[in-house]
Amino acid sequence: MQQQLAQLVATARQESASVTTRAELEAFKARVVGPHGSLTQVMKGMATLSKEDRPVVGKLINEAKKAVEEILAALLQKVEDAEIASALSAPLDPTLPSPDAPAGNLHPLSRTRERILNSFRKLGFTVAEGPEVETEWYCFDALNTPGDHPARDMQDTLYLPKTFRSADAPRRQEEAMLLRTHTSSVQVRTMLSRRPPFRIVAPGRCFRRDAVDATHSANFHQVEGLWIDRGVTLADLRGVLDFFVKETFGADAEIRLRPSFFPFTEPSFEMDLRSPNLGRLSNRWLEIMGCGLVDPKVLELCGLDPQEWSGLAFGLGLERIAMLVHGIDDIRHFYQNDVRFLRQFA
Ligand code: DAH
Repeated sequence: MQQQLAQLVATARQESASVTTRAELEAFKARVVGPHGSLTQVMKGMATLSKEDRPVVGKLINEAKKAVEEILAALLQKVEDAEIASALSAPLDPTLPSPDAPAGNLHPLSRTRERILNSFRKLGFTVAEGPEVETEWYCFDALNTPGDHPARDMQDTLYLPKTFRSADAPRRQEEAMLLRTHTSSVQVRTMLSRRPPFRIVAPGRCFRRDAVDATHSANFHQVEGLWIDRGVTLADLRGVLDFFVKETFGADAEIRLRPSFFPFTEPSFEMDLRSPNLGRLSNRWLEIMGCGLVDPKVLELCGLDPQEWSGLAFGLGLERIAMLVHGIDDIRHFYQNDVRFLRQFA
């Protein structure tokens, strides 16, 4: 018996030399200590031994078992070392994305823009766009804003050094180029390029010669809205804006239209919002956008017959909405790219 066990251990040690992979290790283990393994067979033989022989043989078997366990432990170490070495020596593809790169998230202004656009999409509005570099005509003249209007002042508008020439459109000869001061220029571009009826919302970047402080930035964003159809009324304007405000600020938000003036709408209003969900600004009337019915003069300038067509328009500041929704107190946070700020909107 002693010899048999010694032989068994010697064979196991010998065989173990050829084991290199985890699968081979498993097979080897089964051959020795599995249910039909060589050592298991010997252990089963214990039952047939006499009472006197049992303790002696038991001791021998335990020693053999210990030897086999040591062989297995050494093999496992060897196999694991080989696996790690092969993983480390695999060719590295530096163009693959890092597996532990942190996931990014949308900028709070992008999130707010999408949220706003989505609420208007539900009312059948589609998204329109226009250029950030505009001509004076699209930004002001076509919107019935006279040449001496303060908005056109060099103090407020960023003019570009170049002028724009167009032979085919007399009104656009020798026109000044500027950075658009509002997205209302997209109203003009849309009316000139599409047949009504239509409903559009136009998000985009605007520029003004503003000194930067907690609520002003020389570069900011607006969302413009325009609905042209037959028989559009103030009731439509109220309905559209009320829906938008309830979608954005909750079902118990309310709106108020306050008479105002814009050159391109008649009548014109400031729309105020009141909501119980705005933290310390709750239940106060807050001015959030300009709006009105499209001035017939603007329809005419954009080639639409005011006898047939009518429209509503509105324009809001994206930063203002994002600040209210998230309780942000300084507009400059949006542009500083501080990840401690940005991460809060993940
Ligand atoms: N363009 C205006 C501004 O930047 C906002 C505005 C007011 C847009 C009334 C509109 C409107 O479409 O109807 O201050």
